Amino acid sequence: MDQATRLRQLINVKNSLDKNRFRVITVSSGKGGVGKTNFVTNIAMSLAKRGVRVGILDADFGMANIDILFGVKSRYSIYDILYNNKTIDDVGIITNHGIKIIPGGSGINELYEIDDDKRKKLMNEFSKLQNIDILLVDTGAGISKTVLNFVEIADEVIVITNAEPTALTDAYGLIKVIINKNINSNINVVINRARNIKEARDTFEKLFKTVETFLSAKIKYQGFVIEDLKVSQAVREQKPFYELYPKCEASLCIQRITSEILGENQPVKNDSIKEYIGKLLRVMGR
Ligand SMILES: Nc1ncnc2c1ncn2[C@@H]1O[C@H](COP(=O)(O)OP(=O)(O)O)[C@@H](O)[C@H]1O
Ligand SMILES: [Mg+2]
Repeated sequence: MDQATRLRQLINVKNSLDKNRFRVITVSSGKGGVGKTNFVTNIAMSLAKRGVRVGILDADFGMANIDILFGVKSRYSIYDILYNNKTIDDVGIITNHGIKIIPGGSGINELYEIDDDKRKKLMNEFSKLQNIDILLVDTGAGISKTVLNFVEIADEVIVITNAEPTALTDAYGLIKVIINKNINSNINVVINRARNIKEARDTFEKLFKTVETFLSAKIKYQGFVIEDLKVSQAVREQKPFYELYPKCEASLCIQRITSEILGENQPVKNDSIKEYIGKLLRVMGR
């Protein structure tokens, strides 16, 4: 066992004893528009309703829209911490359910090129964000360096796809890179917009078999979200569907996935949000 593995094990043991452990879940997809932001928004709501202190890092700088789905407006982003002297309190938005949203904005791309002063500043600001149990990271689609960086430093990844062959092919493409580059071994899959439970299962099985056969790796089924008109209705009202229609079919799916997320004893790599940001800057600096 090498030193890094031993260290990781020690950290895991420590964290499994700590009920208030800090957990980071990165949500990604191969193809765009498959439902990442809606998933993150509603899982966040459902976790918050269960008493989990949730943070969301909106790391999709191209199409950042977590704030839109919550019906709030972000004035600043991480960019303004770096270049406009803003604090994490200026940048972060707290929804009326206590969810802390941190807009990454164009600041995400800046992280590749910052000097030591800015690095310190960022770590300092983030270390003020103490009260988060689970940080959800909404990334862009595809296999850009940025997405892979966020996948690498997460405790677990959720890859979202729908049943369409294009989305599935791209999901496989993302999983393939994650596995081949040995970036993260904790890959979970959510099938979105499934017409029923069987279609969801069958779609996952197809992906599972392909990954097993061609990559000799395993992925885990995290559940499905059914195709539900209430989803786009809620989007138009700029409220999470889980809030507006807590009994709709999609909300029940979200509830099930939340139980799945909370029920597991996942190994946790991240000690604190400060440590997490430190890691982010390190992988980005490579
Ligand atoms: N389970 C679902 N049922 C019906 N429509 C959905 C569902 N999930 C997503 N959508 C639709 O897909 C659109 C894109 O979803 P979004 O979460 O913005 O995708 P992404 O973040 O991956 O680009 C939403 O605006 C919504 O209209
Ligand atoms: Mg999105």
